[in-house]
Amino acid sequence: MKHLLKLLDCTPEEIKEILDLADQLKADRKRGIEKPLLSGKTLGMIFQKSSTRTRVSFETGMYQLGGHALFLSSRDLQIGRGEPVEDTARVLSRYLDGIMIRTFAQKEVEDLAAIGSIPVINGLTDFCHPCQVLADLMTLREHMGNLNGKKAVFIGDGNNMANSLIVGCLKMGMRFSAACPVGYQPDPIVLDFAKGYGAAFQLTSDPMEAAKGADVVFTDVWASMGQEDERALREKVFAGIYQVNAEMMSVTNPGCMVQHCLPAHRGEEITADVFEAHANEIFDEAENRLHAQKAVLVKLLA
Ligand code: CP
Ligand code: NVA
Repeated sequence: MKHLLKLLDCTPEEIKEILDLADQLKADRKRGIEKPLLSGKTLGMIFQKSSTRTRVSFETGMYQLGGHALFLSSRDLQIGRGEPVEDTARVLSRYLDGIMIRTFAQKEVEDLAAIGSIPVINGLTDFCHPCQVLADLMTLREHMGNLNGKKAVFIGDGNNMANSLIVGCLKMGMRFSAACPVGYQPDPIVLDFAKGYGAAFQLTSDPMEAAKGADVVFTDVWASMGQEDERALREKVFAGIYQVNAEMMSVTNPGCMVQHCLPAHRGEEITADVFEAHANEIFDEAENRLHAQKAVLVKLLA
C-alpha cells in the first residue's frame, strides 16, 4: 500500500492490518507507551475545506509518533492562486515525507499521488472519506467484536461518507442497506462495486425499511461542505424522512449502535435524544480518528 486515496483501492487484508495496528497503538497510548516510529518525518496537510477532527488528529498523531505536521491552508499556498497541482506535488515531494489533503475533486488527490513521489492520504473529498471510515470500522470492532454478517445502515445523502461506508463495511464482511432519496444516491462507481456483493447490499429510498434489523445506523449531514447553496432545496427533500430518531431506532436490533462522523445537525439528520443516547459511541468514533490515522501514517511513512 503506497497511498490511501480511497477504500476501493484497499484489500480487506490491508484494512484489517490498519485496524489491528490502530488497536495496538491505542492500547499502547492508554498505557503511556509512545514509540517514535516517525521520528524525523514531516507530513504536509493541505486543507481546501474546514476541519476540526481531521486537522487536530493528524497533527497530534504525527507529534505522538515523533514526527512533525505542517498545516497548509489552500488560502495561503500558491495553489490557491492557481499554481498547478502538478508543480505543487513535485515541490512538496522534495521537502516532505507524506501529504494529507482535504479537497473537492477526487481527481486532484489522485493526480497528486500520480505526479508526486511521496505517500498521499485522502483527508476527505466530495467522493469519499476513507480515514473517517477506518475509524468507524475500528469503533464497530471495539463495540461489536466480529463484524461478519452484521447489518450496517446509512440514512441520508449518498455522499462521501455513504460511498466510503458502503465500500468499507462490505469489504469487512458486513451487510449494508443505504436509504437515500432518489437523485441523492451514492456514486455509480460505488453502486457498481456493491453489486458484486449481491443480497448483502440494498439501496432503497425508504429509511424505515432499511433500518429494520440494523446493528449500526450511520447518518451524515444533508448538505456537505461545498453544497451550502443547496441547503434550502436539500432540506425540503430530506426533512421529516431522512432522520435517525427514536421511531427508527425501535425497528433496529437490540443494542444497535449509532455513528456520526460529525459535525452533527441535531433536529435534521439526527434527533438530539438519539444523539445523546449514543454519545459514547459517537465520541469513541471521533477519538478513533487519532488511532486509525496513526496506523495509516505508520504503514505509509515509517
Ligand atoms: N469527521 C470529520 O472529518 O471532521 P472534520 O471535518 O472536523 O475534520
Ligand atoms: N459529508 C460531510 C462530512 C464531513 C466530515 C462533508 O463532506 O461536509
